[in-house]
Amino acid sequence: MSWKTYYEQHTMSAQEAVKQIRSGDRVVVGHACGEPGHVIDAMVANAQAYANVEIVHLVAMGKAAYCAPGMERHFRHNALFLGGPTRDAIAQGRGDFTPSFFFEIPGLFSSTLPVDVALIQVTPPDENGQCSLGISVDYTYEAVMKARTVIAQVNRNMPFTCGQSTVPVEKISCFVPCDEPILELAPPKIGPVEEAIGKNVASLVRDGDTLQLGIGAIPDAVLRFLGDKKDLGIHSEMFSDGVVDLIEAGVVTNRAKTLHPGKSVVAFLMGTKRLYDYVDHNSDVELRPVDYVNHPAVIARNDNMVSINSCVQVDLMGQVCSESVGYKQISGTGGQVDFIRGAAMSKGGRSILAFPSTAAKGTISKIVPILDEGAVVTTSRNDVDYIVTEYGVAHLKGYTLRQRARALIQVAHPDFRPALQEEFTRRFHEAY
Ligand code: COA
Repeated sequence: MSWKTYYEQHTMSAQEAVKQIRSGDRVVVGHACGEPGHVIDAMVANAQAYANVEIVHLVAMGKAAYCAPGMERHFRHNALFLGGPTRDAIAQGRGDFTPSFFFEIPGLFSSTLPVDVALIQVTPPDENGQCSLGISVDYTYEAVMKARTVIAQVNRNMPFTCGQSTVPVEKISCFVPCDEPILELAPPKIGPVEEAIGKNVASLVRDGDTLQLGIGAIPDAVLRFLGDKKDLGIHSEMFSDGVVDLIEAGVVTNRAKTLHPGKSVVAFLMGTKRLYDYVDHNSDVELRPVDYVNHPAVIARNDNMVSINSCVQVDLMGQVCSESVGYKQISGTGGQVDFIRGAAMSKGGRSILAFPSTAAKGTISKIVPILDEGAVVTTSRNDVDYIVTEYGVAHLKGYTLRQRARALIQVAHPDFRPALQEEFTRRFHEAY
């Protein structure tokens, strides 16, 4: 049978396609801005037909209505990361959280998390019968390879990306045409604090470095302060519109990269239509599965690898919490540790955790004597390297606990320094 005939015979409505989901199935949902909203809506509308369907998802950017109150008997969310739409559901017991390094998640689909159904979003097939996973290749690629049933929303707004983003139509069980807009992530708001952080991070970036930009407002804001650098490269779990600005300005050329020279390499993209239009059929940007992009050994093959991520809280030893506020899980490890470890093994590599010195409108210091009760150690004190706030740079790797504490207090907000200095004296038996 030709791929065209296969495609036509397997094209149907979302309502028809979600009948393939059975009670007790594990459903893996395509990631972040790539999630197939129309198909998810149809699955949720069909909730009465299911009992105990497990929904596995990482960054949920849509409505996440499967974990809304009242859905408990039909769906159970297994979150690999939390965001706005899923935080309350997990805090209120309507789902579970599975701790994981991002690069290991595709491997879980062959061990503890076998996939029954993958709900994904793709481009229409090209002339060779290949659909592109577009802006989310990450774990979505492996979910397609391992699922019993693959339900794909076929969206002409999805960019056809290069790298390792395509799957043959025969791997897909049901095609659901729907051209809704692709989910977007608004550019970050840049105030004076973000500007100061951006400048401090830029002081650690050298011409020819290869960058990873983490999730959240700060890593993306940093890009605006790299305009005077030369020949930067990108090897990142994700990036947003800020990278396009730097490519167009001739700052990101990927020329000095030691792995995939000339190419920006990424596992998923989140941004605006401008970013999505930029990557469409653009062979300068390669989308690849996350077990490759985020593998620390692969990251380390990039000389001068610099990872830039953010966090919630750092204690005076340099233990970093990036995913919970006390006991409340608010995000996940994601690729933070993958890149911090990869950068540590890279020749000339560095890792940076950049964040505003305070939270909650200046009422809480993010640099603290000890992490809050219940807080998760995302990045250990052995892994941590540079800490950056709007007040400067603290280098921790290779320094004693006493030196670390001094350096961290210097970049804490001045309002909180006296209390931290008292703790320093108590802990180290010397005046600050
Ligand atoms: N104490 C109390 N609350 C805190 C806090 C602290 N020390 N630090 C942050 N918060 C609160 C904020 O006030 C905010 O609350 P709100 O949503 O009610 O406004 C919430 O936590 C999120 O903080 P914010 O600073 O707005 O988040 P962000 O979008 O800049 O993201 C991280 C920051 C740390 C959550 C994000 O970088 C992350 O998830 N990192 C871990 C994963 C990772 O690094 N992946 C990298 C590879 S992509």
